[in-house]
Amino acid sequence: MAATHILFFAVVLHFFFLWPHAASATGLHPVVLLPGATCSQVEARLTDAYLPPSPQCAATAPRRGTGARWFRLWKNSTALDDPTVAPCVADQLSVVFDRVASDYRDKRGVETRLLDFGSTRGFLADDPADRDLCMGRLVEALERVGYRDGETLFGAPYDFRQPPAATEQPCRSFSLFRRRLRELVERASRINGDRPVVLVSHSQGGYFALEFLNRSPREWCRRHVKHFVMASTGAGGFVGSMRFLATRDDDGSPLGRVGRSSAIKFTPLPSPKVFDRHTPLVITRHKNYTAQDMPEFMAAVGLPASEVTLYKTRALPVAMSFRAPVVPTTCINGAGVPTTEKLVYWNGDFGKNPQVVYGDGDGVVNSASILALDTVIGDDPKQEYYKSVKIAGASHVGVVSDGAALERVVAVILQDKFA
Ligand SMILES: *[C@@H]1O[C@H](CO)[C@@H](O)[C@H](O)[C@H]1NC(C)=O
Ligand SMILES: *[C@@H]1O[C@H](CO)[C@@H](O)[C@H](O)[C@H]1NC(C)=O
Repeated sequence: MAATHILFFAVVLHFFFLWPHAASATGLHPVVLLPGATCSQVEARLTDAYLPPSPQCAATAPRRGTGARWFRLWKNSTALDDPTVAPCVADQLSVVFDRVASDYRDKRGVETRLLDFGSTRGFLADDPADRDLCMGRLVEALERVGYRDGETLFGAPYDFRQPPAATEQPCRSFSLFRRRLRELVERASRINGDRPVVLVSHSQGGYFALEFLNRSPREWCRRHVKHFVMASTGAGGFVGSMRFLATRDDDGSPLGRVGRSSAIKFTPLPSPKVFDRHTPLVITRHKNYTAQDMPEFMAAVGLPASEVTLYKTRALPVAMSFRAPVVPTTCINGAGVPTTEKLVYWNGDFGKNPQVVYGDGDGVVNSASILALDTVIGDDPKQEYYKSVKIAGASHVGVVSDGAALERVVAVILQDKFA
């Protein structure tokens, strides 16, 4: 009897005290991943207040009000592949700017939530094509060296439709994300013997991670974040994003609609902090536009004044405050891939395809924006450890998905020495 008791206690002790530290016995620091835009999975539920934009959408929309259930709004391939349903997804996924609350929100009658916050499942859609784009290859590579989802490996999906706004502007979505990420980092660290985490972001995830760090107390970051690894995010956006603004006709596609309705079209715009006033990015016969001329460019392509105001008040201040996170940081970027450097709309017809002048970059982000990381982060005296890894021939997505580049990223994540 006594022996069974001892055995019982041994088992209990093992599970309650030893198991949570089992991961730390592997010597791994917990890793938290923030994927790029469109990777996070969004669930939705419709209320009676939802007004379908067409009779067809009324007929195909999931049940509203009483008895409504949560369904996969993004990314729902069945719905996207059905031409009668895709425009309805576009409608439900778009956001509106609420002037009273001074913030973006879901459309009336649509409630959304992120799937599986804390797990990498929250951004690994069923679509195999998304595995490269959404850190699926990185997750596989980390699992090969011993990482386990929910134990040592975690995912921080975010509402990609609602990027961080200037600090003084209401942004409920990002405030919620900050709280959840803070709790996730603390939990990941706690169950791994108080080891600080390695935060790894890709593309748009970099803006969320950087703003999260820069708005968290120094002491908290020092204690909880061992290393910030930012892949494929420049210090000042990229020129190619101006092309989306110029194309004014709504193609009705869900992402086109989301881009138009939300502030994500502003986040990657070339920042005046990086692109100077002497470098024309858009060229027309009568007028050239530099990064400083963004409001004029927006007006020229037909964006309403209210949108220009949102850019100036909510997005531009975030771009201008892009700064060193102070925690040990490694930036990893592709190089040597032809990247849109200038757009020529010679006759000023922004509805037409521009002539594109290519330069160096990762195929999306210009090298000017990537090199600026070295000055904006690297040269900041408060930044004690900063390293930049540039991988020749690696593309924007290839950095987190292609063989050799992926190996470099994993090596940086596993790195222990910061000298
Ligand atoms: C995909 O979207 C359709 C139409 O909106 C919906 O009926 C279906 O339940 C969704 N699929 C999932 C898995 O939620
Ligand atoms: C616009 O920029 C191009 C290329 O830098 C230059 O040749 C041209 O003179 C500029 N045009 C105007 C109207 O400033």
